Amino acid sequence: MNQPCYTCPMLTIETINTNDPIDHTDASRLRACESLTFPARRFILREPQDKVLVAAAAHFAKGDHTPQDPPAGFGLGWGGPNGEFELISVYTLPLLRGMGAGGRLLATVEDGFAELGYRRGFHFYTISDDDPAFTDFLTGRGWSPPVIREIICKSTLELAGETPWLMRARLAEGFAVKPWGQVTESERAAIAARQQRDAPWYAGDQDPFIFEENCHQGTSLALMQGDAVAGWVITHIPPDTQGFLRWTVSFVSPELQRSGRIAALWREVALRQAQFPELQRFTWGVPVTHPRMTAFARRRMKPWLSWMGYACTSFKDVAPPG
Ligand SMILES: CC(C)(COP(=O)(O)OP(=O)(O)OC[C@H]1O[C@@H](n2cnc3c(N)ncnc32)[C@H](O)[C@@H]1OP(=O)(O)O)[C@@H](O)C(=O)NCCC(=O)NCCS
Repeated sequence: MNQPCYTCPMLTIETINTNDPIDHTDASRLRACESLTFPARRFILREPQDKVLVAAAAHFAKGDHTPQDPPAGFGLGWGGPNGEFELISVYTLPLLRGMGAGGRLLATVEDGFAELGYRRGFHFYTISDDDPAFTDFLTGRGWSPPVIREIICKSTLELAGETPWLMRARLAEGFAVKPWGQVTESERAAIAARQQRDAPWYAGDQDPFIFEENCHQGTSLALMQGDAVAGWVITHIPPDTQGFLRWTVSFVSPELQRSGRIAALWREVALRQAQFPELQRFTWGVPVTHPRMTAFARRRMKPWLSWMGYACTSFKDVAPPG
């Protein structure tokens, strides 16, 4: 479906796909849009998904474009249960912004879901600390103000090496680190037992057993206090990213947190990461449910970050409740 655009006569918005799994024709058109969505979500465009997809592409040039031509803008969402869908991304090439494409792409995805009976859309996105423009774009189009879930931090090994409180930290006597993959069955059982006993010892988003799958072996470490596991950092290489290591989970037993043990553990992780020349950058998130850590991130980490932002959620009702 092509619709004329009244803001910019050269602009057409094309709805690529609706409720069928990617069919033969649509597959090539969706693949042409890969570069216009997040690297970690590109898999959605490569192979059939067991979910309803609604996608819209913006073309500025008049005349024919082949299905393989990358468009100038792209919006994508997929359906979930209970009449809810996720807006995955909406993006316009920088030189072509401010001409109505982004708003039209967003409206096309919203309308596509509303027509299929969906009522509420959610969008999970990250905004830079000093640039709220994308939030304004969403709220200006009826989406709720953002609820902040996490502070997102990005840094490099070079910056880590210049961070005084990190480089000063040392493992105290009686402490050691070992690869997470070498934690024994009995040590794992002891972690689970302490989690039961202290109810909880660590928060759900710090659970090593949930996050250990496919972890990066060279940099995922356990902090040992004598024979007992007293903390951990679990890392991953996110799919479709280059040069980035994600420090997915970081935990040190509460009684040790004030004594700088966690900084010593982080330094050990950074030293091991330095052995992987292809992994110069790293990123991690601090959930707002850990207020002491978010305060630490804003006060002590920020001067040595290459980027700080917020992981946010907004929603919009695209149809009245059923
Ligand atoms: C937000 C975005 C989609 C808007 O696209 P667009 O084609 O310029 O959208 P429109 O022309 O319909 O609307 C422009 C609006 O976006 C706002 N805007 C936000 N960021 C902007 C930017 N960098 N440049 C121009 N306008 C921007 C404008 O202020 C304007 O707001 P208003 O109409 O309420 O005054 C586009 O700026 C973009 O792709 N930004 C990057 C967002 C991103 O990273 N998305 C990936 C995942 S969500």
